[in-house]
Amino acid sequence: MKRILFVCLGNICRSPLAEGILRKKLEAAGLQVQVDSAGTISWHAGDPPDSRSVATAKKYGIDISSLRGRHFTPKDFRDFDLILVMDRNNASDVLMLAGGPADVAKVRMLMDYIGKGSDAEVPDPYYGGLKDFDDLYHLLDEACDQLLAKISKSAAR
Ligand code: 4NP
Repeated sequence: MKRILFVCLGNICRSPLAEGILRKKLEAAGLQVQVDSAGTISWHAGDPPDSRSVATAKKYGIDISSLRGRHFTPKDFRDFDLILVMDRNNASDVLMLAGGPADVAKVRMLMDYIGKGSDAEVPDPYYGGLKDFDDLYHLLDEACDQLLAKISKSAAR
């Protein structure tokens, strides 16, 4: 598991925050894993993350201000080993572009990692307030802890 891609709708709220959180944990653990994020829509391509995601990350010591939005493309199935989506809409949008069973097998709901069941979603905070972004941070942090544990285990093998 050397290349991980987080995917949400706009790539400005949830997935860049997840990217920043996992990067920090990997760095602290001394693990070499490529991490990126993308959105299933192109509206925010080239944009920095939403200011509320930037502020929330900063509150917990993570700088995501230099990240830029990009659109998910079928090439991402070749470039990444694991594609972690935030909700069922992201999953169906990504799976529509899958080229075969090997691509499909790379896609998982991020919330699977905290045992919330395969249908559990990371709520979209876009129309919410700062409290929703804080809740989002904690949800992503918990999932990234579990993900890191899995990565560490596979790296030890
Ligand atoms: P994200 O949130 O998918 O977590 O980045 C959203 C960002 C933008 C929009 C919706 C959700 N939008 O409608 O532009």
